[in-house]
Amino acid sequence: MVARVQPDRKQLPLVLLRLLCLLPTGLPVRSVDFNRGTDNITVRQGDTAILRCVVEDKNSKVAWLNRSGIIFAGHDKWSLDPRVELEKRHSLEYSLRIQKVDVYDEGSYTCSVQTQHEPKTSQVYLIVQVPPKISNISSDVTVNEGSNVTLVCMANGRPEPVITWRHLTPTGREFEGEEEYLEILGITREQSGKYECKAANEVSSADVKQVKVTVNYPPTITESKSNEATTGRKASLKCEASAVPAPDFEWYRDDTRINSANGLEIKSTEGQSSLTVTNVTEEHYGNYTCVAANNLGVTNASLVLFKRVLPTVPHPIQAPHDRRAPEMLSHLEGPQVQNEVMKPASGSKNKGKEEKRTRTNHRCVFITLK
Ligand SMILES: *[C@@H]1O[C@H](CO)[C@@H](O)[C@H](O)[C@H]1NC(C)=O
Ligand SMILES: *[C@@H]1O[C@H](CO)[C@@H](O)[C@H](O)[C@H]1NC(C)=O
Ligand SMILES: *[C@@H]1O[C@H](CO)[C@@H](O)[C@H](O)[C@H]1NC(C)=O
Ligand SMILES: *[C@@H]1O[C@H](CO)[C@@H](O)[C@H](O)[C@H]1NC(C)=O
Ligand SMILES: *[C@@H]1O[C@H](CO)[C@@H](O)[C@H](O)[C@H]1NC(C)=O
Ligand SMILES: *[C@@H]1O[C@H](CO)[C@@H](O)[C@H](O)[C@H]1NC(C)=O
Ligand SMILES: *[C@@H]1O[C@H](CO)[C@@H](O)[C@H](O)[C@H]1NC(C)=O
Repeated sequence: MVARVQPDRKQLPLVLLRLLCLLPTGLPVRSVDFNRGTDNITVRQGDTAILRCVVEDKNSKVAWLNRSGIIFAGHDKWSLDPRVELEKRHSLEYSLRIQKVDVYDEGSYTCSVQTQHEPKTSQVYLIVQVPPKISNISSDVTVNEGSNVTLVCMANGRPEPVITWRHLTPTGREFEGEEEYLEILGITREQSGKYECKAANEVSSADVKQVKVTVNYPPTITESKSNEATTGRKASLKCEASAVPAPDFEWYRDDTRINSANGLEIKSTEGQSSLTVTNVTEEHYGNYTCVAANNLGVTNASLVLFKRVLPTVPHPIQAPHDRRAPEMLSHLEGPQVQNEVMKPASGSKNKGKEEKRTRTNHRCVFITLK
């Protein structure tokens, strides 16, 4: 934190009195004009500040001084600072130029003018602005779910930058705080991800930095599906688990660990694993267990490889030949049911008869009436 140093204004008249006594042809000081308000000059760090002062009379005794002492007395430079010069674009000007202004230059500056008649001073207050800059931010952290996490972001700048924390989630801003410290109590897996610290003041655009928070948690099996297989074919069982760090998978047949060999193949990638039987035989049918583990825990799920039962071929259904059909079918009429009169082709056995068919959006329904 940078606290703005306030000038000790009470000391100024004292310094001024001393200065005027030091001036080569100093007149007795009668009064000091402090009635004029203080002007503020705002300059960015690194820029040049020009503090204006104009005298009424060439013969005036003039001096520039700051809190700590005399900078210029007449044309004599008292300050040792090479950044400080007088700016005189005309004979009556007596301005002070400070190059590469820095924060310690902030404060009151007084232009003291001793005319024939009375001493006058004009005071300016130099405000030095500094763009916001993040000076210290937490490094990326990995914690276990449920832990308390404190992130810190410190920034310099004048005026004091406002710190904002934001959780960068796919859904946008979900979290906001306005502190240097961001405390997350009992962190959840949803709170993992990137956190952005933004330091802003009115001087320039904000400074932004990120911290990555990784939340470790034990595995939970998110998907495990039993499957059907046909003898002589290839079949797979799949298992998915969510965990951080990514889980390791193992497969068991009843209580025996399975390895990739003898027509069995295990393939695991981040978060999922599959067991493939390249040529299914009778003894492959049965129970399997998928085990997912990381350093925080272990869990398992059971899967079954079923023998596929071939579907039985349905018997063909006779179309109705009954004359009562239209009346009966009218009961089925509705928004999804349509009646359609089929005229048999001429010369067919059914000549003169009508067939009635009912259709739905998805299938044909044949009604057989006795
Ligand atoms: C100078 O700035 C101070 C605050 O930094 C403010 O209170 C004062 O009014 C300003 N003076 C002028 C003349 O703008
Ligand atoms: C004004 O005084 C401070 C000390 O209080 C000094 O560090 C600074 O350089 C002075 N400014 C100029 C322009 O001389
Ligand atoms: C940053 O802040 C941490 C915690 O406050 C501190 O331990 C560390 O020394 C700081 N680093 C710097 C470069 O200031
Ligand atoms: C987290 O902080 C709360 C409140 O300060 C405290 O009660 C709790 O014990 C802390 N938990 C851990 C894991 O440190
Ligand atoms: C699968 O195994 C059976 C019996 O061992 C064998 O007859 C058949 O050729 C195999 N099929 C393939 C594709 O390897
Ligand atoms: C397979 O597992 C189920 C429960 O998931 C169990 O009821 C069944 O007895 C097991 N079958 C065999 C052959 O172990
Ligand atoms: C699966 O988990 C149960 C209880 O959680 C445990 O009793 C069993 O031994 C585990 N099976 C395997 C193969 O790890």
